[in-house]
Amino acid sequence: MEINFILNNESITADVNPAIVVLDYIRKNEHLTGTKEGCKEGDCGACTVLVGELKDDKVIYKSINSCLYPLGNVNGKHVVTIEGFNLEGSSVDRNLNSIQEEFLIEGASQCGFCTPGFLVSLNGYFLTNENRDLEGAIDSMDGNICRCTGHNSIIRAAENVITKFKNTGSSVASLIEAKLIPEYFITITERLTKLKAFPRGSVGTRSFESNGQTNGNAGGSTFYVGGGSDLFVQKPELMIDSNIKFLNNIPELSFVKVVDGICKMGSTTTVTDILSSKEISGSLKDLKKFIELFGSTPIRNSATVGGNINNGSPIGDMTAFFMALNSTIVLTNGMEFRRIPLKEYYTGYKQTQKKPSEYMHSIEFKIPTGNYHYNFEKVSKRTFLDIASVNTGILINFEDKIISEIHISAGGVFATPLYLKNTVEYLTGKELNLFTIKEAVSIAEMEIAPISDARGSSDYKKLLLKRLLFAHFITLFPEKINVSETI
Ligand code: FES
Ligand code: FES
Repeated sequence: MEINFILNNESITADVNPAIVVLDYIRKNEHLTGTKEGCKEGDCGACTVLVGELKDDKVIYKSINSCLYPLGNVNGKHVVTIEGFNLEGSSVDRNLNSIQEEFLIEGASQCGFCTPGFLVSLNGYFLTNENRDLEGAIDSMDGNICRCTGHNSIIRAAENVITKFKNTGSSVASLIEAKLIPEYFITITERLTKLKAFPRGSVGTRSFESNGQTNGNAGGSTFYVGGGSDLFVQKPELMIDSNIKFLNNIPELSFVKVVDGICKMGSTTTVTDILSSKEISGSLKDLKKFIELFGSTPIRNSATVGGNINNGSPIGDMTAFFMALNSTIVLTNGMEFRRIPLKEYYTGYKQTQKKPSEYMHSIEFKIPTGNYHYNFEKVSKRTFLDIASVNTGILINFEDKIISEIHISAGGVFATPLYLKNTVEYLTGKELNLFTIKEAVSIAEMEIAPISDARGSSDYKKLLLKRLLFAHFITLFPEKINVSETI
């Protein structure tokens, strides 16, 4: 089956298994070895490439971890590796672009293994952001780890680049003039437009989609794939032998809109899409603060809502986030649709109510209004770029000081993502004060049954959830409770 895309300045028609990850394809088939294989789990960033997609006649680039991104997902897109940023398209001569030059000047590369990932990420920042500053530039490299040079020289290089090119225009022509990208970029919009004229499903008889939604049994399974950032960590070998439906290639599943106060988003909406959506960020306070706890920039650029919810992990961050918004998911078999409240969706460990013939179409939730308060808390071994040990979200609303609506989610404390039903029932209709908060936390402790695993013992997780629930109330209502009253 054929996958048509542009790789740097080359038009590619790849007749290969679409479940091969981009990293393996570019290194083994195209011999572009600048992109490195480190962890192959989305943790180190050595494999970072950019994927550009045509949207409203403009190419939007995002950094992704190529070690987890199936080739089927780049059909009709532009893939840029470190080689694709050299000014003359060759990595042999001294034809470094302006960002590469600054890395050289600041000694920001020692063994060089991590360097392509940092450079691709920073180049991506310049390609996609009109308003640039040092903080944004550093954030754009957050999925990359350097083990030998140290990060200070890399930050100095980023500082130099920002000082020199902060105000460079965002048009491709301006970036080329500043020697930030090579000249062939000027041709990409037109070439992708032509590519789009081909049916996107030309990726063969195995239809494609990736977001962790599995149908059937191993061997004869159909995997619905969104970003692949979980499936290609957990079961890459199985993916190679399975039928895959690449949901990212179905444009109707990629949308965010608000209709009559209800936010609706397609199952292939990524975490980055949520963050950049004016509809959502304008409606939910502190959204950026919560979302930054979900993975790294490249993971947020590829991980989809549908994948996170349907892999059924008890510690899915987006699952806990949306459950606290009392969301409803919409399933479809391609013809009919049915709605299930997210809090009722899970039937057992990684088990859901989805039938084998269905996949997730979208998720919906009522935009909070009035005197609402929302908070999300998460504890993991490190604050950022890590999987949760325990996570929880809360939405609470009042009428005349009485709780009129409340929803609380808890992840990592049960076999499934958990809606704290009894706790919610207790608090609904009550006034919030020190007594009711303490009672609620005691009820929550009785609702959970965590297991001991690599992320902590059962007792540790019980303690974590208790502290995080108190953290919700201390954060949202400091006038009603303080830390010393919770010990
Ligand atoms: Fe480490 Fe891909 S190889 S993130
Ligand atoms: Fe060696 Fe970064 S330069 S790991």
